[in-house]
Amino acid sequence: MSMQALIDTAKAMVADGKGLLAMDESNPTCNKRFEKAGIPQTEDARRSYRELIVTTPGLGEFVSGAILYDETIRQSRKDGTPFVKVLIDAGIIPGIKVDAGAKDMAAHPGEKITEGMDGLPDRFNGYFQMGARFAKWRAVIAIGNGIPSRGCIEANAHALARYAALCQEAGLVPIVEPEVLMDGEHPLKRCFEVTEEVLRTVFNQLYTQRVALEAMILKPNMVLPGLTCPKQEAVEEVADATVRCLLRAVPAAVPGIAFLSGGQPYESASARLNAMNVKFKTRMPWALTFSYSRAILQPALEIWKGKKTQTEAAQQALHHRARCNSAARRGRYTAGMEKDMESIITKK
Ligand code: 13P
Repeated sequence: MSMQALIDTAKAMVADGKGLLAMDESNPTCNKRFEKAGIPQTEDARRSYRELIVTTPGLGEFVSGAILYDETIRQSRKDGTPFVKVLIDAGIIPGIKVDAGAKDMAAHPGEKITEGMDGLPDRFNGYFQMGARFAKWRAVIAIGNGIPSRGCIEANAHALARYAALCQEAGLVPIVEPEVLMDGEHPLKRCFEVTEEVLRTVFNQLYTQRVALEAMILKPNMVLPGLTCPKQEAVEEVADATVRCLLRAVPAAVPGIAFLSGGQPYESASARLNAMNVKFKTRMPWALTFSYSRAILQPALEIWKGKKTQTEAAQQALHHRARCNSAARRGRYTAGMEKDMESIITKK
């Protein structure tokens, strides 16, 4: 795979009006969400849910790529058509989550290190054969009393960079995801400082490990106050802080930044992305888009509830959120667009 092919894929992943759909919940995470919605936690239920997603009519208009999980990339529609083919036929690039999850970090209470490096080159080759053209590795950084530590930030940044180098070597575009978590009482300013330090460390490591920045996508958190912080800044302030932080720490060679939603309400995830694209459109060297999971899929899951009769309404909800986020990617989202969501919810 030539470097130019990787660069072309990275650009296509953040094409105008498009973003990524993260449907890569691990089985334990997917089961937890199913349990909450009263859906049986079986492989067949997870397959049906993923079929609902990939067969949503018109999704390819708003979604450039879909991040799959190991179980999902091997699954097919009920009629036997592999999900990977369904996605490609819809104009959506298949991708794959390759990390093995964040585990407790030795000697660092309250902190995590992401595992999954063993056998990565072979796994990349297998996923490439299956049709994947990009991959994702997520590191999590918690904010709390005395954390994050330098040890945690450096270890996670190093792992992200080693993964990204192996990924490019195997012909896949790496999504590099260092997620600073929203949990906590900390103010927005603290999230800003931590996010800046994390991103600077990640890009230092990417440089040291010889990762081509032109052929990767960054998937960061937005700069937000902690979930239980009494002061919750308005949309504009979040947009300002986030873009200021990214401008300081993310090199202009990176083609695109695609945010995770991290547990934000879905309207906020759209409104904040929109505000950034409205206000900073001419000042940002990279495309700014979405790579949401919960903020794009949660309403569909809640409507579906595992019932066949609800499939169409759930697909409408997913289509709607994809359309809203695509509009936000262009700076054309309005709160008025949510009226359609209300009518889908009342119809169900
Ligand atoms: P959320 O948008 O739900 O945060 O998920 C994005 C993701 O891919 C987490 O790794």
